[in-house]
Amino acid sequence: SFEYSLRPTTLNQYIGQEKVKENLQIFIEAAKMRNETLDHVLLYGPPGLGKTTLSTIIANEMGVNVRTTSGPAIERQGDLAAILTALEPGDVLFIDEIHRLHRSVEEVLYPAMEDFCLDIVIGQGETARSLRIDLPPFTLIGATTRAGYLSAPLRDRFGVMSRLEYYTESELTLIVKRTAEIFSTEIEESAAIEIATRSRGTPRIANRLLRRVRDFAQVKGNGKITLKLAVESLERLQVDRLGLDQIDHKIITGIITKFKGGPVGLDTIASTIGEESQTIEDVYEPYLLQIGFLQRTPRGRVVTEQAYRHFNMEVPE
Ligand code: ADE
Repeated sequence: SFEYSLRPTTLNQYIGQEKVKENLQIFIEAAKMRNETLDHVLLYGPPGLGKTTLSTIIANEMGVNVRTTSGPAIERQGDLAAILTALEPGDVLFIDEIHRLHRSVEEVLYPAMEDFCLDIVIGQGETARSLRIDLPPFTLIGATTRAGYLSAPLRDRFGVMSRLEYYTESELTLIVKRTAEIFSTEIEESAAIEIATRSRGTPRIANRLLRRVRDFAQVKGNGKITLKLAVESLERLQVDRLGLDQIDHKIITGIITKFKGGPVGLDTIASTIGEESQTIEDVYEPYLLQIGFLQRTPRGRVVTEQAYRHFNMEVPE
């Protein structure tokens, strides 16, 4: 698809996550030299940083196919058994949101990961028998926003654990320029930097903002993305200088005006602004913590002085 063509297909094309990339390159090369499958990989970190893209790249670099699914999509043990028995030797199985796997399904995964086999129980009570089915060797790539949500036995079965970090402004600028080139859209360096600084360290957001700015350039301008046009478009999109949107705004100003800046619990924040706790925790909060606008304390979330200043609110004594 169109979206897919934006994604890099090799580690060399992939911008950023240098440490993760360097290590993966070694593990991939070593596995290939030994003619083995790559050990199971856990990718974790905030959404939009490239976990799915990396899994596709790993499969591509290993020269195997990737089968993609997600934790909540695998409802029963039999669903997972069907997926596992259909794999070709060496294939990558990518399970997104792996922390949301049902416990019973997870138990099928343990012997599959460890010994490439399925233990199936047939019948009930006294006539119950256990059958062992061999599976083709495969690489499981699990992705999650939080490694802490995984059960210990599952986490322990990954040989490689890679944490994805927020991208730097210069990495995001390169990504914006790369995507603009794929779009055949001319973009000023300063405009690419402007989009990068407002993308919350996240390539998915950078590419989405670039698409919208390109729309403005096409309709309101002559197609070229200038700095002036980028700034005007981003203002219209209500994405501020730090990349904060209306929901970030509601979170921070809500804590300030309704809870005197905190501490306040996540669920309380969520219900006062009408968002899901899970969304705030996984999508919004990590970046607000990263830029030092929020702090987590044992008694709840606290807004920092920096955040008061950004939103032009009077800092309390
Ligand atoms: N597009 C989205 N993420 C990317 C990345 N990390 N490198 C290159 N292009 C990308």
